[in-house]
Amino acid sequence: MCGIVAYIGKKEAYPIVIKGLERLEYRGYDSAGVALLKESKINLFKEKGKVQDLKNKAANEDVSGTSGMGHTRWATHGEPNMVNAHPHLSGNGKIALIHNGIIENYAALKTTLESRGHVFQSDTDTEVLVHLIEEIQSKNNLDLAEAVRISLGEVTGAYAIVVMSTDEPDILVGARKGSPMVVGIGKDEFFMASDATPIIEYTKNVVYLEDEEIAVINRKGKLSIKTISNEDVAPAIQELKMEIEALEKGGYDHYMLKEIFEQPRSIYDSMRGRIDSTKGDIHMGGLEEYRNTLMNAKRIIVVACGTSWHAALVAEYLFEDLARIPTEVEYASEFRYRNPVIYEDDVVVAISQSGETADTLAAIELAKQKGATVLGVCNVVGSSIPRATHAGAYTHAGPEIGVASTKAFTAQVTVLIQMALWIAYNRGAINQAKLTRYLVELEAIPAKVEKTLKCAEYAKELAKMIASSDNALYLGRGYNFPIALEGALKLKEISYIHAEGYPAAEMKHGPIALIDENMPVIVLATKNSQYEKTVSNIQEVKARKGKIFAIVTKGDTEVKEMADYYIQVPDCPEELSPLISSIPLQLISYEVALLRECNVDQPRNLAKSVTVE
Ligand code: G6P
Repeated sequence: MCGIVAYIGKKEAYPIVIKGLERLEYRGYDSAGVALLKESKINLFKEKGKVQDLKNKAANEDVSGTSGMGHTRWATHGEPNMVNAHPHLSGNGKIALIHNGIIENYAALKTTLESRGHVFQSDTDTEVLVHLIEEIQSKNNLDLAEAVRISLGEVTGAYAIVVMSTDEPDILVGARKGSPMVVGIGKDEFFMASDATPIIEYTKNVVYLEDEEIAVINRKGKLSIKTISNEDVAPAIQELKMEIEALEKGGYDHYMLKEIFEQPRSIYDSMRGRIDSTKGDIHMGGLEEYRNTLMNAKRIIVVACGTSWHAALVAEYLFEDLARIPTEVEYASEFRYRNPVIYEDDVVVAISQSGETADTLAAIELAKQKGATVLGVCNVVGSSIPRATHAGAYTHAGPEIGVASTKAFTAQVTVLIQMALWIAYNRGAINQAKLTRYLVELEAIPAKVEKTLKCAEYAKELAKMIASSDNALYLGRGYNFPIALEGALKLKEISYIHAEGYPAAEMKHGPIALIDENMPVIVLATKNSQYEKTVSNIQEVKARKGKIFAIVTKGDTEVKEMADYYIQVPDCPEELSPLISSIPLQLISYEVALLRECNVDQPRNLAKSVTVE
């Protein structure tokens, strides 16, 4: 979703801003622009398409200036074109603004501003805000920061913004409400960005702005923060733990492939310090404070979006199966608007890679208002969701850049397995011997994932058979059902093949009508408690001439015989099997996308971090 980057200091801003936009490309966007302030003039460059298109456009232009800001736009109001791209200028051309979020009352504000003579160039909600700032500033003779503060008091909606003005060339003003914003503090220079990725190579000292805070960064080395209600805030400086290498492709052709192959490590990292099978110990430090609440919970509600919602479905199986706590899974976007029944003794678990998904954040706020305890399972340290929840557990998967989530998903599942075991053991639903057995198996998972990754060559072969299809069906039962959904989503996201995931038994209630010799049916048929039932479902597909692509447990003979193509994976307890069986599906999607010449890391229309509802 929209990306923001800004710089003020002694260096040339353009190269820093452009590189920052490239670092933010993973968020997903359809146009880009930069504004550079030089000698009391704002130079603006905007282009539809990629950051490279913008670079080409600006190639022979004067891009000098030591204060600048850039934006990648993911269209909400107004189609993706050059005019609607940010930055937007005020009517007098003195103020420029970039914005991530949605100004919900823009139509009313626009009408009022038009009646005062403002003329708008674009269809965006953002342009209304920059005109509003201009109006308020000129009418009341205010400095920029104060005009921004008062203007923000008049808007409803979500925003992260950066504003520059030719009248005050030594400052940039940033603000946030509902959309993320990080301020980077260098030596005699400052940065602002939607996340830390554009900043990390210059400084590790950052301040995460809170909602309704306004930051003024000054070329002379001063950072000041205020709230919209005009209270001073002391900047809480944090040190970034991320390393720049984590943001590079490290020899892989795509981030997605790198992230798939990082999974033995990322799964290990999400267990590090939490489990010790030799002692039979499990610790969930971040949840300890809410131990009693969790142990006594009558119900757990898991909320999430996208791939994280699939992790939530796995959690439902785990929490009920192992911990014996009734669990419901909700799309955050539905939950927040359907007036759900939430009790004070409910525990709501919000799962999010980015920690910024607007619907998940709103679901958390709702659950908090109703008095529930809200826990987060997030990957991005310092993001909004971990700050909005009462407690939680980080997944520690490291930065995930590919839009299609891979290692973040398996890290989420790893954390959820540990949560389930921790609750189960402490509630007495499993005994020490059983816990220790699970811990031994869990510790063996990274090596098994390593082995599973060896199927990459087979995935290439299978991909050749799927790449020319218009549709695909993914089937699984039990713990394999959420993985079937996730496999289908991965294929849709990056290769644009229509794919559906189904519980294998449900197939006969509809999708079976679609099956013919052209329909690839990918079946998760690993050894689990429903293996024999899955075998029957495979027969049903075969009887209709569907092509079977099976994921089977090493040593399997029955399904291998029936399948047209198969990939073998190591055996493990079924509660842990999502960590293994999702790997070949990730690889198949990747290979299919390559064969179809799709943009693997930045699929069309998708955004990595969905900061609007
Ligand atoms: C977007 C991304 C998905 C992600 C979903 C939820 O749609 O493209 O990969 O699963 O948002 O994001 P979150 O950061 O909350 O996990």
